[in-house]
Amino acid sequence: MSEIFPKVIVNFKTYKESFGSSAHNIAKAAEMVSEQSGVLIGIAPGYMEIHPLSKHFSLPVYAQHVDGVTPGAHTGHILAEAVRAAGAFGTLINHSERRLTLADVAGAVDAAKKAHLQTVVCTNNIMTSAAAAAFSPDFVAIEPPELIGTGVSVATADPAIISNSVNAVKDINSRVRVLAGAGISTGECVKKAIELGADGVLLASGVVKAKNPEEVLSDLVSKI
Ligand code: G3P
Repeated sequence: MSEIFPKVIVNFKTYKESFGSSAHNIAKAAEMVSEQSGVLIGIAPGYMEIHPLSKHFSLPVYAQHVDGVTPGAHTGHILAEAVRAAGAFGTLINHSERRLTLADVAGAVDAAKKAHLQTVVCTNNIMTSAAAAAFSPDFVAIEPPELIGTGVSVATADPAIISNSVNAVKDINSRVRVLAGAGISTGECVKKAIELGADGVLLASGVVKAKNPEEVLSDLVSKI
């Protein structure tokens, strides 16, 4: 499993499509497109969907967050071991909508690694990308918060943040892969992000809120 590195990860967030039959339909579309194209697609649904979706589909499933705690007396925390046992392959950490302190990022990465979860640490600028790389996660995902959910692609609106983040990350640890996110919705955005040095993309609304997620996903992978 550790050699599995998706080119596209779809974050379901807490959109109304993030659970139940809509989540199932998005996962089904992702599996179909992934199989047809040969491009690996990961999904990050709501917690309650980790178990059913990981059982029904052969896609890497990610939690949207884990806490830096080990099994024991903690209440209301997300335990990495439990997420792993539910069928998750990896986890996002420090998403802009679930921001952590630097110390908490360190704790969450450590907990995730101990639970054998792939780690995707999200960052909001070049300096935080460098800081995140110091924790040696599997991926750093650079997402300028001001473009998240706007439909304006980071690859065209702020290409430098991608290429500079890639350089900053690789300077710290060349084995860390980089995803780019915010406003990504087409194959053209994905192609540009990859040309700028990213290994893939992290996206949400373009797929999750689409009338036809399969159509969007097919386009997304079409130029890889
Ligand atoms: O985690 C992905 C996300 O924050 C980007 O959101 O809707 O701009 O693709 P979106």
